[in-house]
Amino acid sequence: MSATILVGSQWGDEGKGKIVDILSDRFDIVVRYQGGANAGHTIVIGDQQYILHLIPSGILRKDVICVIGNGVVIDPKALLDEIKLLESHGISMKGRLLISQNAHLIMPYHKLLDSINESGSSKIGTTGRGIGPCYIDKYARKGIKIVDLLDRKELEAKIRVNLEEKNNLLKKVYNHAELDVNTIIDEYTAFDEAIDEYITDVPAYLNRALDDEGKEILMEGAQGALLDVDHGTYPFVTSSNPTSGGACTGTGIPPTKISNVIGIVKAYTTRVGLGPFPTELTDELGENLRTWGAEFGATTGRPRRCGWFDAALVRYSRMINGIQRAAITKLDVLSNLDEIKVCVAYEQNGKRINSFPTNAHRLESVTPVYETLPGWKKDITGITKYEDLPSETKEYLSFMSEQCGFEISIISVGPKRNQTIEL
Ligand code: GDP
Ligand code: IMO
Ligand code: MG
Repeated sequence: MSATILVGSQWGDEGKGKIVDILSDRFDIVVRYQGGANAGHTIVIGDQQYILHLIPSGILRKDVICVIGNGVVIDPKALLDEIKLLESHGISMKGRLLISQNAHLIMPYHKLLDSINESGSSKIGTTGRGIGPCYIDKYARKGIKIVDLLDRKELEAKIRVNLEEKNNLLKKVYNHAELDVNTIIDEYTAFDEAIDEYITDVPAYLNRALDDEGKEILMEGAQGALLDVDHGTYPFVTSSNPTSGGACTGTGIPPTKISNVIGIVKAYTTRVGLGPFPTELTDELGENLRTWGAEFGATTGRPRRCGWFDAALVRYSRMINGIQRAAITKLDVLSNLDEIKVCVAYEQNGKRINSFPTNAHRLESVTPVYETLPGWKKDITGITKYEDLPSETKEYLSFMSEQCGFEISIISVGPKRNQTIEL
């Protein structure tokens, strides 16, 4: 019937996995639209934690069909490991997982080139999953897609052509050993056999589900708006479009069928990898936030940089994404603080800046303007009704909502399913 987009509103790791899992019991289909196994979406059910990298976070609801859209870049090993892990927990993919024939494949040389690029001076702190090099090949029209797996001859030919170029680069520019073409052909042929049954014409499937079958579709973004290659803090971004616009190109669902955009908003700010971060706390308080919020990367285990909530940034994110409603996550992490600061604007050379400076150098030179709110100093992890939240917590939420210009529809007060307040 209609499609809803769910986006990360900051620099990723906002808690998208948890909220997709919560919402997916009212959706028929969940579709990932961009990124790859650089994502790490965590879902906690009882004592069991699942970290998903490629498969949509609706997979833990047994009636939900999960789709990997054409905008996603697929690492065969990561996908097979994930399928195996889920199946070991009794979660079957049969009839529940669909993969777009137009999704691009991450090849071994993409991961190698990612790590070589990151060893140079223009390092940006990637996840090392081959994301950038794979999207480079996609846009250079050299990429290898899922559909290429279906024709053995075509696949071999494409791998040979690509590898000839990459081996030249490895040998002549990077002085690195060449990769063996037959090993790669064998690996990708075996992958085809493992995923053949899931390969689908995804735009046709999704549009039929919307138009003829009255289905509800949730489109799950990975990363966050400020990591968007067009709208983020370039060059310290990922190589796809996590913003809501990417959901249409990454799935084949047209904009006229989108009814809602939900933003996932962490109650403070984190960032993993390099790049500007105006409200970063490099002191003990930043370390405390990291400890209280368990802010370590779900994909790489790297410590996340932590800082105050940045309303100037989220306001920009709201505009770019068209966020109508927000899910505020990790509110409980702020419960130990006497007072909480919120960045409401930026100043540069003593003057307020009205528009968000995405240019990394400019963003590095801004000074945040803070307002201070009282803390609540109470454990809120067991609260399930908005009315029961401390008055200071409600004040903080109202302030976020006013500053950013959206309604709040979900409040998350812990990693588990039942630690969620719906408004
Ligand atoms: P995603 O990439 O946006 O899905 O987020 P991640 O899974 O990378 O990181 C979010 C982390 O916070 C995970 O460890 C979640 O289990 C956890 N989490 C999610 N919501 C909450 C919350 O409301 N409170 C706390 N304390 N943890 C949460
Ligand atoms: P989820 O979906 C947080 C960051 C990396 C690096 C930059 C580029 O879990 O929110 P890449 O490997 O994509 O080329 O790295 O983007 N990054 C993320 N940060 N959450 C993510 O995903 C991220 N995916 C990539 O740390 O700064
Ligand atoms: Mg994550």
